Amino acid sequence: MILTLGHTKGGVGKSTLALNIAIERLLAGADTLLVDGDPKQTSISKAIGIRADDRRVPLVPCIVLDHAKALRHQIGLLKSKYQDIVIDVGGKDSNALRAALTVTDTLLLPIGPESVEIWAIDDMLELVDEARSLHDFRVLAVLNRAKPAGQDNADTIAVIQEYPGIKLIPGSVGNRSIFSSAFGRGQSVTEYKPRNRKAVAELATLMLAVYGD
Ligand SMILES: Nc1ncnc2c1ncn2[C@@H]1O[C@H](COP(=O)(O)OP(=O)(O)O)[C@@H](O)[C@H]1O
Ligand SMILES: [Mg+2]
Repeated sequence: MILTLGHTKGGVGKSTLALNIAIERLLAGADTLLVDGDPKQTSISKAIGIRADDRRVPLVPCIVLDHAKALRHQIGLLKSKYQDIVIDVGGKDSNALRAALTVTDTLLLPIGPESVEIWAIDDMLELVDEARSLHDFRVLAVLNRAKPAGQDNADTIAVIQEYPGIKLIPGSVGNRSIFSSAFGRGQSVTEYKPRNRKAVAELATLMLAVYGD
């Protein structure tokens, strides 16, 4: 499956979740390629570089494809060679993001319980609608950086559920420092020690929703 973590808004958790998802697929035995489609914030590439320096297995095949034409072309070539491709791509009016939407099977939108992230949904859906007029793909949303208490999570979920074109993944990913700590070592939260059971369980729920059926 080609999965795109994409959003016109930065800072929503695309790179963090892309890294975790790609490593989980590799740990599950799927031949997986991670694609860094973000020209300015090559955070995925950096994290994978640190992982390589640490000689941590599984090794994570990762390539930078930040130009629209190259991304479309290379993904077209590579999709038969990998069971799974995970693309991390963002930026407002990014041609690479548009290109990723033309080849993806699934788009996963991380959305946080913040007004600015809720407002950004419409912006992103303009691109999605445009891309879906050319080829259909599944659009999933995950509540990321969920708060430990208060009404904001429920309010955000209610807004997402009003969009007929978006399927909200059950559960959520909490706002947990392990996600940034693990990312800084190029690790998924299932690998990182000390373990955080809640984060591991949240990632498992996310994986099941994306790859389970
Ligand atoms: N679930 C989470 N819990 C805590 N911090 C998170 C979580 N998801 C993302 N972050 C943090 O939020 C910031 C933005 O995340 P990032 O994945 O770089 O977003 P994007 O790729 O969409 O720009 C980073 O500092 C990252 O560590
Ligand atoms: Mg990023």
